[in-house]
Amino acid sequence: MPRPIQALIHPEAVAANLRRARAAAPDARLWAVVKADAYGHGIERVYEGIRGADGIALLDLAEAERVRALGWRGPILLLEGCFEPRDLELCSRLALWHVVHREAQIDWLAAHKTHEPHRVFLKMNSGMNRLGFGPQAVGSAWTRLNALPQVDEISLVTHFSDADGPRGVDHQVAAFAQATRDLPGERSLSNSAAILRHAQDQGVRADWVRAGILSYGSAPDYPEHDIAHWGLQPAMTLRSELIAVQPLQPGDTVGYGSRYTAERAMRIGIVACGYADGYPRHAGSGTPVLVQGVRTGTVGRVSMDMLAVDLTPVPSAQPGSEVTLWGRGPHGSVLPIDEVAHAAGTIGYELMCALARRVPVAVA
Ligand SMILES: Cc1ncc(COP(=O)(O)O)c(C=O)c1O
Repeated sequence: MPRPIQALIHPEAVAANLRRARAAAPDARLWAVVKADAYGHGIERVYEGIRGADGIALLDLAEAERVRALGWRGPILLLEGCFEPRDLELCSRLALWHVVHREAQIDWLAAHKTHEPHRVFLKMNSGMNRLGFGPQAVGSAWTRLNALPQVDEISLVTHFSDADGPRGVDHQVAAFAQATRDLPGERSLSNSAAILRHAQDQGVRADWVRAGILSYGSAPDYPEHDIAHWGLQPAMTLRSELIAVQPLQPGDTVGYGSRYTAERAMRIGIVACGYADGYPRHAGSGTPVLVQGVRTGTVGRVSMDMLAVDLTPVPSAQPGSEVTLWGRGPHGSVLPIDEVAHAAGTIGYELMCALARRVPVAVA
């Protein structure tokens, strides 16, 4: 018997979440962002859910090959562009659109031999200070690209640093609009947080939006808003079972470092899930968990293969009882991944991407 832990992927939730993105930005075409193997869900597993998008955005060339192998004939965008000159050969062969964010990528294009000119997305750094040409340089980069026979259409892209928070996007929208006002071409600005919070703001509406985390059922601005607020559904469930039940007396402690002390007589359940499965070790006592669909909390430190949960609200729980670490539980119950991430001082993105290889994954 394998350990009872399992991850379930829900492609129809991805489809529903992408419809939600479309409703928020109805005039824009929609990139489904599937980098990091679809944020840990597996590109092949979510493919049915993303087929309704207008394009697929990612950054790993091997992932682009996998998307073409699945039969996707629509646009694929390399969000970081090429990493070395020979990547352009794959762009030509697979008709990949690619971001151009630094001069060397233009040099490589100028030296590239191709019969089919490439569609490129010129990236402007409007304040994130990660990738892209600054406001002074974006015009000359556009002029260089426009002069190349290897280049077809040039679109413009930028990325927001604070779409999920109080600083917002206005300062970047203004910098982008000012620096690109004389440049033609389609525009792409918004990530998930901007789609949900700012898509209709002045200057944010654009030709393309890029939906990443929202597609997978995590609220980009948790805890200000949760997935119920945004109408999103979890696309990943991590479930397991109780493999033991322990009665505790007042004063008994639980797990490594004795981090939890029972104040009263109680029962705890031991779950077949630990940090070697991708569950965050930093999630302290009280991190939410569902047992038989009933909400309770963890107790004590998470260990490599096990964690402990308070069974007080679930007196009928026994070894074999179903445990939902995040995602969909029985009887319509839901535990958003954001709650677990928040308890561990991280974000839903990290937990999804960190699902461990040893966890068997199935499409629900
Ligand atoms: C350039 C770019 N666009 C879009 C996204 C999608 O972001 P999110 O998952 O927050 O929607 C990312 C992710 O980091 C990105 O780097």
